[in-house]
Amino acid sequence: MKKGKFIPHPKAYERDLDPLKLSEELYRFQDKRRSVRQFSDRAVSKEVIEALIKTASTAPSGAHKQPWTFCAVSNSDLKLKIREAAEKEEYENYHGRMSEEWLEDLKVFDTDWHKEFLTIAPWLIIVFRKNYDLVDGEKSKNYYVQESVGLACGFLLSAIHHAGLISLTHTPSPMNFLQSLLDRPANERPFLLIPVGYPADDAQVPYLERKPLDQISVFYE
Ligand SMILES: Cc1cc2nc3c(=O)[nH]c(=O)nc-3n(C[C@H](O)[C@H](O)[C@H](O)COP(=O)(O)O)c2cc1C
Repeated sequence: MKKGKFIPHPKAYERDLDPLKLSEELYRFQDKRRSVRQFSDRAVSKEVIEALIKTASTAPSGAHKQPWTFCAVSNSDLKLKIREAAEKEEYENYHGRMSEEWLEDLKVFDTDWHKEFLTIAPWLIIVFRKNYDLVDGEKSKNYYVQESVGLACGFLLSAIHHAGLISLTHTPSPMNFLQSLLDRPANERPFLLIPVGYPADDAQVPYLERKPLDQISVFYE
């Protein structure tokens, strides 16, 4: 006798599936996802952002605790405050806090401490991880928080790409300023800052090659 409540698995498709065709199609599609650093100010509706967040929250999580909060910011004043605080941290990062090796690794991206996209992109989604929840004032433990929130962010990036939009995974470290600017409670810590929108007309991305299969996988048959 099972202790929990169970339902039949909700099959995603009724038709016969061709896993090879579908997986190769998805690979070709996902291979076109890129982090973009030049945004257009073209609007994206709140409904779109809500659907993207709902998709992110379909990710698996340790003991189904869903230890995440997605804060979606379109308010111009708040975006400016976030940009100013992020640029302050990034200025320090690029002027002493990052190692020579790190700065060398970043050269191909041609990035610096200026983060115009934080005020140009129509939305910023700031993802918070919750190390614990507060239930009736009592601490309730969450498990595998980093792994769970990382997965949810992966789902979010894929959903953004699927919607024909672009994103940037941004980490203006340290990100504590986001906790106070967004007035988040003590059990939440900023995880990623993700601008979402459309690319600028002249947007360019650095040329990158992804590691081939034989460098990222080992098969035991
Ligand atoms: C955890 C994480 C943090 C990142 N932080 C930054 C960042 O602060 N600024 C930035 O321009 N790109 C950042 N990136 C984007 C990476 O540079 C980018 O994902 C990588 O170069 C691969 O490019 P692609 O996303 O276009 O495939 C970050 C990516 C990850 C996964």
